[in-house]
Amino acid sequence: MRVVVTGAAGFVGSHVAEAFADAGHEVLAVDALVRSPAPDLARRTWEQVTARPGVTGLEADLAADGLERLAAADVVVHLAGRPGVRSSWGAGRAAAERDNVLATGRLLAACANRRARPLVIVASSSSVYGSAGHRPNREDDPLHPASPYAVSKVEVERLAGLAARDGLRTVLLRYFSVYGPRQRPDMAFHRFVEAALDGRPLPVFGDGRRSRSFTHVADVVAATLAAAGADLPPGIAVNVGHPEAVAVRSAIGMLTGVLGVRPEIRRKAPVAGDAARTWADPGRAARLLGWTARTGLAEGLADQIAWHRALRAQQPQPKRAQEVRV
Ligand SMILES: NC(=O)c1ccc[n+]([C@@H]2O[C@H](COP(=O)([O-])OP(=O)(O)OC[C@H]3O[C@@H](n4cnc5c(N)ncnc54)[C@H](O)[C@@H]3O)[C@@H](O)[C@H]2O)c1
Repeated sequence: MRVVVTGAAGFVGSHVAEAFADAGHEVLAVDALVRSPAPDLARRTWEQVTARPGVTGLEADLAADGLERLAAADVVVHLAGRPGVRSSWGAGRAAAERDNVLATGRLLAACANRRARPLVIVASSSSVYGSAGHRPNREDDPLHPASPYAVSKVEVERLAGLAARDGLRTVLLRYFSVYGPRQRPDMAFHRFVEAALDGRPLPVFGDGRRSRSFTHVADVVAATLAAAGADLPPGIAVNVGHPEAVAVRSAIGMLTGVLGVRPEIRRKAPVAGDAARTWADPGRAARLLGWTARTGLAEGLADQIAWHRALRAQQPQPKRAQEVRV
């Protein structure tokens, strides 16, 4: 299969591109590295991904450049975008609109314009639900986006739904708090591990009671590859999340247990729009994709910590200090 993976210099996209290549597919990896909020990490990741046999790299801005080459594929996995609730407030709103909504609209249009139209798998987010109540969120629950980022993902979903109505096969994967090697520097576990390894207090937004369906990137990759091979109703949304919601403070307990440290916690003001709880009902993914998350949190955190240690071993000290200042 010819597979295009956008956002391939990013956290999730890099793993997805590598997994498709390892499974024998021809991969066109696409990214506008300058649009990444962590350009140093993106550049290093890009070099690794594009060195992989079976992967060709293309630096392109989906919000500005011609996209014909991207649409000439059997499957387009669209993971490029501007993630993150916190960074989407204020000046970040424009970036979320540009790199999520505008870029997705342009990509969908380019794919719809072809005679042989690809399947388009689009990354959405648990944030479209707002906060989960007393049960896990199912895909047909009402959407309550509570931040510019979440609103942009609802817009992305609408665009994919419209394209599906016009005959393009689209699938929306609602990812839940992904973690593991190459996790973005603005994400909680990345900040916690770097702080703990530096001997600094762990910066925690709010009181640590917020809970998440933390989902390891290897499981996210497996669900994404399964979606590429499944015959799904066009425009369908599928939760890609671990069925258990774990409180941030419990996750910190596991993380520091693996690291063998007892760091101080520095509480910071809660972030507006950050859900009190995300909680995935993975029933549809199990039925339609034959997928369930398999990685337990302690095991997955150990994997992420090993990546941080390996990264530090490769870098001179001053560079490291700059990278953790997020
Ligand atoms: N990581 C998570 O926990 C999570 C959860 C839910 C949804 N998602 C979604 O999954 C996708 C991937 O997230 P991630 O954590 O890997 O993010 P990431 O920032 O690591 O990767 C996104 C990549 O997209 C690229 N990009 C941004 N704008 C672009 C543009 N206009 N043209 C081309 N490339 C562009 C960036 O350079 C970056 O490398 C995003 O759509 C995100 O919203 C992620």
